Amino acid sequence: MERRTIGAGALGVGAVGLGCMPMSWAYSGSRQRGDASMQTVHAALDQGTTLLDTADMYGPFTNELLVGRVLKERRAEAFVSTKCGLLVGDQHVVANGRPGYVKRACDASLRRLQTDIIDLYQLHRADPEVPIEETWGAMADLVTAGKVRALGLCAVGARARRRSGGGMHDTTIRQLERVQQVFPVTAVEAELSVWSPEALDALLPWCAARGIGLLAAMPLGNGFLTGTLTPGQGFEPDDLRARHPRFTAEMMAANQPLVVGLRRVAARHGATPAQVALAWVLAQGTQVVPIPGAKRDRWARENAGAAGIRLSPRDLTDLAALPAAQGSWD
Ligand SMILES: NC(=O)c1ccc[n+]([C@@H]2O[C@H](COP(=O)([O-])OP(=O)(O)OC[C@H]3O[C@@H](n4cnc5c(N)ncnc54)[C@H](OP(=O)(O)O)[C@@H]3O)[C@@H](O)[C@H]2O)c1
Repeated sequence: MERRTIGAGALGVGAVGLGCMPMSWAYSGSRQRGDASMQTVHAALDQGTTLLDTADMYGPFTNELLVGRVLKERRAEAFVSTKCGLLVGDQHVVANGRPGYVKRACDASLRRLQTDIIDLYQLHRADPEVPIEETWGAMADLVTAGKVRALGLCAVGARARRRSGGGMHDTTIRQLERVQQVFPVTAVEAELSVWSPEALDALLPWCAARGIGLLAAMPLGNGFLTGTLTPGQGFEPDDLRARHPRFTAEMMAANQPLVVGLRRVAARHGATPAQVALAWVLAQGTQVVPIPGAKRDRWARENAGAAGIRLSPRDLTDLAALPAAQGSWD
């Protein structure tokens, strides 16, 4: 698989990563699959994927445990990215950016992941009660202590947009500018896909100008862009799509032209819509690494295959001409 470098430290990873979240969190069937998901991680590594994206709150904790069981056998082949800063409570997920907590969370993640160093440690969400410089300073101390190789910041979710009162990633960029004063950012994790391209406006140029990597979360539009979901199919209550405004029957029907467009380009390459959706993300910049989520080993293999697809100028023009997605959190 093609390799890409992220951050000024020039860390190398396979061009297509693996989002491990659906194996333990946010999608129906995740908890039931359990150990079978380990095969998915193995399948991804077999294909040359190296970046495994997890977080302590996925499960909570079970996703890191699962990834740790694979790392125990194949640590040298993997680049592990995990996150701190969100705690799962009975009713809500709450941010915790207190320095003491960050340090304890890192030690706990190292234990669950069965490793002595985390390649990329990301702040999942900033804690409004703690100046971000303090949280980031604690994370920087973890680099100094040799527990973490590099730091990243997550910028996922429409809430950031609502809080900013401006462009989609205005808040994120302000946060990035503040933490950069404390310790260099290696990567930003943000939603980027054919149906959510907002990161291209300001965030990706900001990262590119500084050699910062962009990990593209939800590159398959939570599965919609793969063309395997049917309008009106319904989702289990524990599946994030049961509440997602783009997954009502009406919006899924309205957004079918995106799938049709991806299929048309896919046919030119003998590829699947999922692979073209990922190839489009890869085409947005050499420091962009999509992290498609998957529970199934079949999907991990298919998605890794996207690294071999080169979209032509005509393909990119056709995809750029697709209608904007309908349905939003705002
Ligand atoms: N930092 C953050 O706050 C944040 C937020 C969201 C996501 N993320 C990261 O980003 C990763 C990706 O996001 P995501 O998993 O939510 O969304 P996604 O990658 O856009 O889509 C995942 C969904 O697509 C399905 N899928 C994957 N490959 C497929 C294929 N080739 N054909 C058909 N269906 C396929 C998966 O099905 P199965 O599950 O059935 O395999 C899963 O339901 C996550 O795993 C997580 O690591 C981070």
